[in-house]
Amino acid sequence: MRKTITLEVNGASETEEVEVGMTLLRFLRDRLDLTGTKEGCNEGECGSCMVLLDGRPVNSCLVLAVEAGGGKVTTIEGLSKDGALHPIQEAFLAHASIQCGFCTPGMVVTAVALLRQNPDPSEEEIRSALAGNLCRCTGYRQIVDAVRGAAAAMRAKAAAPLAVSA
Ligand code: FES
Ligand code: FES
Repeated sequence: MRKTITLEVNGASETEEVEVGMTLLRFLRDRLDLTGTKEGCNEGECGSCMVLLDGRPVNSCLVLAVEAGGGKVTTIEGLSKDGALHPIQEAFLAHASIQCGFCTPGMVVTAVALLRQNPDPSEEEIRSALAGNLCRCTGYRQIVDAVRGAAAAMRAKAAAPLAVSA
């Protein structure tokens, strides 16, 4: 059975007819060619397929495309602005938090959601937020450091106009 859905992906409205059993992950990768979202376990265990759906991080392998209909999806491709990387992406590079890179898009998306909710998370809070994102390469130390570094940079940037006007 097929159904026509309309949803917003990275700010663009998309209307497509999909099989009702198609996952959001397959929709993003196969229909929209947004291959930054990775397919790992395909059963909700690894977090490599993480995207934001209406601002919340979700494993897109566990969400049907029809369930996302009417929603707003942000993928890793939607985080950069005007060709500039998101501060969390910059921090992953600066802290050498990437080896094979397969987990990285999901890690970054989860970190974006965390820092929107909590701009100054403790190490424990970062590790807890990233508990659903598995990395086989880096051992997590560099990833936690990157999220803390990004949080500090983002707080400093947010405070900068106040500092100038004070
Ligand atoms: S591919 Fe979705 S959680 Fe692993
Ligand atoms: S960098 Fe390879 S899985 Fe995380």
